[in-house]
Amino acid sequence: MERPRVLSGVQPTGSLHLGNWLGAIRNWTALQENHETFFCVVDLHAITTPHDPKRLAENTLSTAALYVACGIDPSKCTIFVQSHISAHSELCWLLNCVTPLNWLERMIQFKEKSIKQGENVSVGLLDYPVLMASDILLYDADFVPVGEDQKQHLELARDIAQQRINARFGSNKENNILKVPKPLILKMGSRIMSLSDGQRKMSKSDENESSRINLLDPPELVRKKIKRAKTDPHMGLEFGNPERPEAENLLGIYAILTNKTQDLAQKECSEMGWGKFKPLLTDATISALEPIQEKYKKLRENPEDLYLILNKGKNKAEETAQNTLYRVRKALGFLSP
Ligand code: TYM
Repeated sequence: MERPRVLSGVQPTGSLHLGNWLGAIRNWTALQENHETFFCVVDLHAITTPHDPKRLAENTLSTAALYVACGIDPSKCTIFVQSHISAHSELCWLLNCVTPLNWLERMIQFKEKSIKQGENVSVGLLDYPVLMASDILLYDADFVPVGEDQKQHLELARDIAQQRINARFGSNKENNILKVPKPLILKMGSRIMSLSDGQRKMSKSDENESSRINLLDPPELVRKKIKRAKTDPHMGLEFGNPERPEAENLLGIYAILTNKTQDLAQKECSEMGWGKFKPLLTDATISALEPIQEKYKKLRENPEDLYLILNKGKNKAEETAQNTLYRVRKALGFLSP
């Protein structure tokens, strides 16, 4: 029986952090057991804001290594680099020509990121969600496991597939050209917040390094960052108090990292002051990251293995992507070569 398809990706911009892992990659590892999974390093997305060409290849490799270190099994999943499959850019162009400009102008991430860029906003930044739609639609993905912040982009991908391609160019309901994907968003961890402000998302682009824990941060640095993390004057950790976003966030991270239900974590920490809770969270974080860091180190010592994984992934991804691209080209009426 055919297994449902899954596709997701992370941008290789800087180091991956706890949010990327707990909000997205953690879910990928669960899905790989009974889904057909495609995980790409979305390097074309990484140049939509100014980037350093000296670091792009290294960041791409490091991100792929982190996928495997976090438990993505290359014998079960297709792991590949987005720019190795030219169909992503090609489908993006085809979809660009049917996507209304105002759908892109209202994207929250575009608005937020373009404010930061000032005068220098690229066409690529505006077009980013169409490239993301191409990533997903090329692989006929049924499900796309992402954090909460990507929900709007997923809705756009669905609208492009359904309203702009299938409805306009499909011949009948059964003969759809593109599969319409569904987002998969975890209940716990889909929005991990900054350590320095419980109301802002933990993000790679935050200038304050202490606002996030990177998956490759050594134990001493984790300790320091958690020590500095913002707290509040209340005693006892709790969920569900809108006045206490930091408690909500840090207790949530603790529950996930220790594999405890929210109820259990809250019971354990309800009488605890921050001074007692922080070392507990620090130990849980360090021991959760330790196996990832060890595996990562080994992978980077044998870069050949990683290249083999990415090459195998490229071949598999290429075949699937070309099939979809062919379907879309045909539906849009292009002359076959
Ligand atoms: P990116 O690289 O910003 O983040 C990768 C994944 O991590 C999730 N995430 C978070 N989850 C919880 N809390 C946070 N603080 C947090 N920060 C990030 C993101 O939701 C994402 O799932 N546009 C995407 C990359 C992309 C993609 C795709 C994803 C390109 N093409 C196709 C899925 C399918 C992005 O910038 O993710």
